[in-house]
Amino acid sequence: MDARIAPSLLAADYARLGEQANAVSNADWLHVDVMDNHFVPNLTIGPPVVASLRRVTDLPLDCHLMIDNPDRWAVGYAEIGARNVTFHAEAARDPVAIARTLHGAGALAGLAVKPNTPLEPYLEILAEFDLLLVMTVEPGFGGQRFMAEVLPKVAEARRRVESGHLRLILEVDGGVNEQTIEQAAAAGADMFVAGTAVYSADDPAKAVDALRARAAAAQRPAAG
Ligand code: DX5
Ligand code: ZN
Repeated sequence: MDARIAPSLLAADYARLGEQANAVSNADWLHVDVMDNHFVPNLTIGPPVVASLRRVTDLPLDCHLMIDNPDRWAVGYAEIGARNVTFHAEAARDPVAIARTLHGAGALAGLAVKPNTPLEPYLEILAEFDLLLVMTVEPGFGGQRFMAEVLPKVAEARRRVESGHLRLILEVDGGVNEQTIEQAAAAGADMFVAGTAVYSADDPAKAVDALRARAAAAQRPAAG
């Protein structure tokens, strides 16, 4: 199990997105937060900007859709070249159908759960997904405090992966920094989104490497 880092452009300068994407070319994925001012109070970017980003970076784009009606909108992000498209369980009418449509369009499919959303109702359908995103803050804004209390969900998912019942990238998002990343890695996460911790650093690329090293050191050896 590798520790992979996905810097979140939410904390970048939106007037210099291409430059800011290229400042972390040593990252594993680039996390793009799509917010619609309905599912979450904040409003960010949509398909035209994602399509432009696709042309300016070789990093795989990890689109995190914090939007209503992903049943209608998720596939568009796959069609413009996102490597992974994650949508929220709380917003989806038919998550399995969305996952299949994403696969049909050549992308990976991710399911996200908010801090108060339990995993149990979704354990069965996770077999249809490539990634589980456990939110470690309430979605909507960067710079919030990491909620360690949700880590039992990561640990539960990791147990199911290790027992061979699921095959998933386990991603955490929100409040991840050089301190909190260790707890998330110890719980079994292997993909770490970091906005503020990367883009408020003097050297974002260096911050990515430092985060990855911290996570790798904290991952449970047995998880190999
Ligand atoms: C929050 C977004 C996150 C956000 C994380 O709703 O999903 O991706 O950018 O920002 P930090 O790392 O600053 O908590
Ligand atoms: Zn996100």
